[in-house]
Amino acid sequence: MGEGELGRTTALDPDNIWARAVDKVRRLADRVGARFPHATEGGVYRCEEPHWWTAGFWPGMLWLIWRDSGEARWRDLARACEEALDEPLSQFERLDHDAGFMWTLTSVTQFKLLGTPASRRRALTAASHLAGRFNVQGRYIRAWNPWREGEDNAGLAIIDCLMNLPLLYWASETTGDPRFRHVALAHTETTLAHFLRADGSVRHIVRFDPESGAFADVLGGQGYNPDSAWARGTAWAMYGLALGYRYTGRGELLQAAKRVAHFFVASLPEDGVPEWDFRLPPDDGSIRFKDSSAGACAASALLELAELVPAAEAPAYRRWGRELLASLNAHCGAWDRREEEGLLLHGTGHWPERRNVDVSLIYGDYFFLEALAKLRGQTGLF
Ligand code: GLY
Repeated sequence: MGEGELGRTTALDPDNIWARAVDKVRRLADRVGARFPHATEGGVYRCEEPHWWTAGFWPGMLWLIWRDSGEARWRDLARACEEALDEPLSQFERLDHDAGFMWTLTSVTQFKLLGTPASRRRALTAASHLAGRFNVQGRYIRAWNPWREGEDNAGLAIIDCLMNLPLLYWASETTGDPRFRHVALAHTETTLAHFLRADGSVRHIVRFDPESGAFADVLGGQGYNPDSAWARGTAWAMYGLALGYRYTGRGELLQAAKRVAHFFVASLPEDGVPEWDFRLPPDDGSIRFKDSSAGACAASALLELAELVPAAEAPAYRRWGRELLASLNAHCGAWDRREEEGLLLHGTGHWPERRNVDVSLIYGDYFFLEALAKLRGQTGLF
């Protein structure tokens, strides 16, 4: 194993990296237990309240490791995290579109792995909330809530939301009631019409008139500007569309996911690790930061696509996913840095607000572990 078709390293021993990752996670679990690590500060994970959108990723990592090892400790910690999420589940004002991220990696996963009835109930409650955010006039799931006094964001929809839709697809599957899937597909059609550009890049935020449902304008959000290409948003789109195809078999979703995948892969820099936006001005070195979390999510998405595309196309997607993981491993893997609690260095959470820049991010770690699991013959949790 040496260099792939793009001239990047493909050197990666998934079993070895998995073992090193589990070793790191074990040390983090000793310190944080069933709390919710989000982003590192000086190498140490800060924990957030269970209401924060990232609360599912740590238990998701615990479930991935439990599924592989069968060691009870991981299951017990993941269950304790899920129970801590009962507080936000009962607080309507604090729940938003990210219910999918939060309850897919906790309750849906426990239900799928162990058949726990209480987990199914929790996940269906979360799915009902997510479906209830659907704006019928605009055919979009509303993003966020008015977090600040007077804030009006009832018309906002975001690309990230595609990754929350598997909760709705699962809800239709488990209940036999198609309405959850209808909402997910309607939101996806709006996303294809208003977010996806011809070149395979995507917008982050689109504003609609929440009364009439008419398109209003485009906002830059976590990207550099409204016309740029936020790297993690691109990864959310690729993975979300691929999963939409897996659940529905709708060919237009697979075509769209492939278009985004080609844009992502073609936009990667020489070292194979994306910057936080693919369209940063080349002459401003002060904003050129990597986002390993975008790379990790995209790697898992490419490996998912490899399972969905026609057989003749699968090797290319698998190779791209593996190359991306190998690049992340080579340039961002924190394996020999005991002082670093994260698996991957060099994530960027929110550059426009200068939050969590050049740190480890729990979602980057989750998707890296999930992609490794896929290379080791297991499935993802979404
Ligand atoms: N969904 C928020 C983010 O990607 O940062």
